[in-house]
Amino acid sequence: MIAKRCQQVQPFYVMDLLAKAKQLQASGRDIIHLEVGEPDFTTPQPIIDAGISALKEGKTHYTAALGLLELRQAVAARYQQTDQLSINAKRVVITPGSSSALHLLMHALVNPGDGVMLTDPGYPCNKHFVTLVGGEVLPINLSAADGFQLNVEQLDEAWKPNAKVLLIASPANPTGTVLSQDRLKQIVLWAKAKSIRLIVDEIYLGLHYDVDAVTALALSDEIIVVNSFSKYFSMTGWRLGWMVVPEGEVEYFDRLAQNLYLCAPTPSQYAALAAFSDDTLAILELRRDTFQRRRDVLLPALKDIGFGVATPPQGAFYIYAESSQFAADSFKWCHALLEQAGVAITPGRDFSSQSAERYVRFAYTTDESRLLEAVDRIHSYQRSR
Ligand SMILES: Cc1ncc(COP(=O)(O)O)c(C=O)c1O
Repeated sequence: MIAKRCQQVQPFYVMDLLAKAKQLQASGRDIIHLEVGEPDFTTPQPIIDAGISALKEGKTHYTAALGLLELRQAVAARYQQTDQLSINAKRVVITPGSSSALHLLMHALVNPGDGVMLTDPGYPCNKHFVTLVGGEVLPINLSAADGFQLNVEQLDEAWKPNAKVLLIASPANPTGTVLSQDRLKQIVLWAKAKSIRLIVDEIYLGLHYDVDAVTALALSDEIIVVNSFSKYFSMTGWRLGWMVVPEGEVEYFDRLAQNLYLCAPTPSQYAALAAFSDDTLAILELRRDTFQRRRDVLLPALKDIGFGVATPPQGAFYIYAESSQFAADSFKWCHALLEQAGVAITPGRDFSSQSAERYVRFAYTTDESRLLEAVDRIHSYQRSR
């Protein structure tokens, strides 16, 4: 008999859609994929080469649970390079993807009944990480009119006396919102005043456009930052992430990691040593520019045909657009769109309780001509209804 807490975990609805898209593709249909949240680029060659060398050299054993010291040092050095921040490498914990970091954090910080404040819309897995450890999700409703920027009034509204942790992301999934420095500072102060642990998910950091975005670590040593090699570094399948935690708590994460997964994949850790090299960073910056160009092509095209996007998203590779002018139920509409027009996008249901039916997410993880073709297909489909 499956335990109740497991039965309550909902699937990623987009996975159903992806399965259907693949089925249609297998039957010969041309499907434009804008539904999956990963870069279309493969991992940069210097990282692949480093991974192959590691395998050839037989680096196939466990590492320390906190990760390879060289990689922890390389991550710390990267903060010095990008933000002139001196972070002790001891505070860096290497994890199997940021998913494991988030999971570990919930185990480490949340007692049964504790409240964890999460934005709505937000990354779908977070609520399950909370409920799996017996925590209570305290949703913070964001507003499209404000570009989905989190503010202190919304925090006050969502707060309950059991609130223990606040988890936010910048740049965010699904909205692409980058928190302004000012907002971030206010949020750090608010959390401190309420004795709430602040976790900032920065896995899309590096993928931000027109705006500066710096790590929240610059604002306080008490907050926890989660990051990943998945998105900016195009390494989703290698399953590698990291977090930076307060120095006094590292030993607890060490123990938890030893017990939950032993260590992050060893060849991936060796491969990631090449992630911060000049050669790799040059490739990644070109890709960042490509994402920005795609956003600049897709956003006006979507607005032209009637999607609502109140504020241009400034980061990640997502546009969270209001689709209520096309259909009352975006879930059904996304399925119809896939079947009739061959365009796969993600319904809001994966990300939100408050705005689920009115929104869809576009991932601009395909090239510009395909993005424009997708918009044309959506437009024609709408006119034909
Ligand atoms: C906001 C956010 N956090 C965490 C993750 C997990 O990513 P990974 O485990 O690949 O690092 C994702 C994946 O899409 C995400 O969008």
